[in-house]
Amino acid sequence: MSIEVKNVNKLYGSQKALDNVSFSVNTGEVVGFLGPNGAGKSTLMKIITCYIPQSSGSVNVCGFDVETQSIDVRKNVGYLPENNPLYYDMYVKEYLEFIAGIHKVPQIKQRVAEMIETIGLSVEQKKKIGQLSKGYKQRVGLAQALLHNPQVLILDEPTTGLDPNQLAEIRALIKRIGATKTIMLSTHIMQEVEAICDRVIIINNGKIVANAKASDLKKIASNKEIITIEFAESLEAQQLQKVKGVLKVSLLANNTWEIEGDGQSDVRNNLFHFAVENKLSVLTLRKETQSIEDVFKELTKQ
Ligand SMILES: Nc1ncnc2c1ncn2[C@@H]1O[C@H](COP(=O)(O)OP(=O)(O)OP(=O)(O)O)[C@@H](O)[C@H]1O
Ligand SMILES: [Mg+2]
Repeated sequence: MSIEVKNVNKLYGSQKALDNVSFSVNTGEVVGFLGPNGAGKSTLMKIITCYIPQSSGSVNVCGFDVETQSIDVRKNVGYLPENNPLYYDMYVKEYLEFIAGIHKVPQIKQRVAEMIETIGLSVEQKKKIGQLSKGYKQRVGLAQALLHNPQVLILDEPTTGLDPNQLAEIRALIKRIGATKTIMLSTHIMQEVEAICDRVIIINNGKIVANAKASDLKKIASNKEIITIEFAESLEAQQLQKVKGVLKVSLLANNTWEIEGDGQSDVRNNLFHFAVENKLSVLTLRKETQSIEDVFKELTKQ
């Protein structure tokens, strides 16, 4: 087990930002951390990385306690904070050597050169950080998190604001790094979760509302069934409404209907028999699968 969070609460004054949060992340896993703005993602990441203390509960990283063994935790964790804070007046190389020094990395110059190569910073390495584009600043942020070769990476929205090319490159980079490390990353981009995460944890109002494999998440969302059906003929909504198991009917386009089933019986079967009995031709009959975005909305609505 790389990260173990047990019954963690966090109070900011009278506001409860984390409410009895528990979960664990296995070694080698890449976990996506989702939740609406203000849900508590960054707060929890700051606690895991020893930046702020929890109000109660315990957090263990690589077997070390964040309160009593915080130096050991920091040695094993690489952290890319929200908004990627960097020293804009420092040169890329100078900054990375400075960070490597803090971590007491042996052979600093060699390690920094390696990192610059791995992260794809070679062309920009002579610039000041403030002169870099957002994507390259992000790479510097990732490089500083990786310099001391930590086992665990905590990345708070690592891909916000990147263009589609940079996005793909940074994602590929995270995936490549993820092959040998435990990663927890927060994001608002649902495709990202599907592209790089083994598991998804959703937090809402400081409480964990889902913790599952991305593929399983779609199933737990709701037992509603959405069917799209297209007939050759036009018909009235009331006719479809009468079919057993149909909850809601709406016309999407010419003769194409979206049907919400009650999830109890297979509405497709009933719709098919309805068509046969009424001598209607079915051109399309499709069960819609829920996307992670649907699940997210369902689980985090107020
Ligand atoms: N230092 C602080 N003092 C007081 N309240 C805080 C502090 N930091 C965070 N909060 C509050 O705690 C709650 C959780 O904030 P947090 O930054 O963890 O959310 P988040 O899930 O990271 O949101 P986002 O997606 O917008 O980054 C919010 O209501 C926020 O206002
Ligand atoms: Mg945040």
